[in-house]
Amino acid sequence: MARILITSAIPYINGIKHLGNLVGSQLPADLFARYCRARGHEVMFICATDEHGTPAELAAAKAGKPVEVYCAEMHAVQAEIARGFRLSFDHFGRSSSPRNHRLTQHFAGVLADNGLIEEVAEKQVFSIDDNRFLPDRYITGTCPNCGYELARGDQCENCTKQLDPTDLINPRSSISGSTNLEVRETKHLYLKQRSLRGKLAAWIDSKTDWPLLTTSIAKKWLNDGDGLQDRGITRDLYWGIPVRRGDQPWPGMEGKVFYVWFDAPIEYIACTAEWADAQGLGDEAWQRWWRTDKGADDVTYYQFMGKDNVPFHTLSFPATILGSGEPWKLVDYLKSFNYLNYDGGQFSTSQGRGVFMDQALSILPADYWRWWLLSHAPESADSEFTWENFQASVNKDLADVLGNLVSRVTKFATSKFGATVPAGGEFGPQELALIEEMGTRITDYAACMAAMEVRKAAAELRGIWVIGNEYLQSAAPWTVVKTDPDRAQAMVRLALNLIRVYAVLSQPFIPDASATMMTAMGSQDWSWPEDIQVAMRALPAGHGFHVPENLFRKITDEERLDWQTRFSGVRA
Ligand code: MF3
Ligand code: ZN
Repeated sequence: MARILITSAIPYINGIKHLGNLVGSQLPADLFARYCRARGHEVMFICATDEHGTPAELAAAKAGKPVEVYCAEMHAVQAEIARGFRLSFDHFGRSSSPRNHRLTQHFAGVLADNGLIEEVAEKQVFSIDDNRFLPDRYITGTCPNCGYELARGDQCENCTKQLDPTDLINPRSSISGSTNLEVRETKHLYLKQRSLRGKLAAWIDSKTDWPLLTTSIAKKWLNDGDGLQDRGITRDLYWGIPVRRGDQPWPGMEGKVFYVWFDAPIEYIACTAEWADAQGLGDEAWQRWWRTDKGADDVTYYQFMGKDNVPFHTLSFPATILGSGEPWKLVDYLKSFNYLNYDGGQFSTSQGRGVFMDQALSILPADYWRWWLLSHAPESADSEFTWENFQASVNKDLADVLGNLVSRVTKFATSKFGATVPAGGEFGPQELALIEEMGTRITDYAACMAAMEVRKAAAELRGIWVIGNEYLQSAAPWTVVKTDPDRAQAMVRLALNLIRVYAVLSQPFIPDASATMMTAMGSQDWSWPEDIQVAMRALPAGHGFHVPENLFRKITDEERLDWQTRFSGVRA
């Protein structure tokens, strides 16, 4: 039994996530966590909401709510949707928690003690009417290059020219529209990442087993001329973690907060402390996952995220950890994903394009989405969601292959032999061959799951469902029963056992259907089929079972067309 720490990139608080976000981090992390638990490992699976920064402030303002209230509400909404998708976090925390405040301030303090923090004076636009400094992209004005009137202070969307806010003609605040702006001097803390370059490079070079997508992004940022700049870790904002040096005030930094990307990954650790608090446990309980001097040296740590997050997890966050000089656990394996596109374009939160998590659950249960998303995970390249493909996969894999087998076997068995596993006959060559092949395929499936090869694992699992169907097709107990009822009983006994094994194997992908299968088989034996000979005989003659409700229904063409139209536009 190993100890496995798993974190999913923590979703931004402002708004409900779309299916592209889900498949890029939380869902594959959940798949892996469920698999590791099924193999008997001790798992800590952590996720949280990423709550700070200007987008959160603006979303709250738009909703007409104080930002604290908005974040608390949205956290509850996201937590509820996560439950709906059966995401099995040990804790779903909040980056705004007191734990994260303390830990973020602690890291800043030790980085400063280690000489890795520098104070830099900068000029920034201040909006007098908004009474705040404005991030560059929250200043709007006319582009000096092309005359576009809605250019942003960082870039003109129309002609793509990179801009400085002071380049804009008639600049105004995007927040209030006020033109009452002035340039003021402000001081910020910078983390001297450049001085950690050697350490970071050596650490990344030691990760020879990381996926190519991960290391290529990391190395690009590390080696590009301006890849590893010293980076500002504070902002002039209201909503965030107040800048303090450990538990001391930081002179000159009053009223400032840490940059959201500085505190967000620290929440992985703080969230585990939130978990311990919620369980009524002491600090040792979370430290044994994170501190190598307190037992975490035997932990293997896996991170899951979309490719846009890779630089922050291979450079910035490790810079915080390494720079602290303290014995914190660094990531051992980083699994990253490409993007999922939507029906000929991109999913987009800002434009409301695509299917969002709450909408998905309002039309079909979680298992349908989990299966499609995971079996089409954008691993080696971007992948695309289309309604045709979704309909085809669900109808074929889930309804025709798995669902049909379960309903056919249980109905036939009940009608011919009653509600218990029949006792007649012995397993013959065909049954023994199926058992043998199950053993081989389960080994292959387990290897893909352990390697986080999500699509391949889905294909292996589908293959395991298919061989069960092929067996039934050729054994044909419904025909055999007429001439040799004993032999038909042996076939049914095997098929009922197969359903229980399917429940165990399928649980990481489709937990609800698996629970239904297991309950229908009158069992709660979720142990992994280490010994396939034993597993395929686990339900003995006389063991009670029942016919479950239909596991999966088919998606009709009318539904598909209806959804296609409903989700073709943008969300209000
Ligand atoms: N909120 C970020 C995103 O959705 C991810 C933050 S991951 C963390 O892209 F490491 F910073 F926590
Ligand atoms: Zn322009």
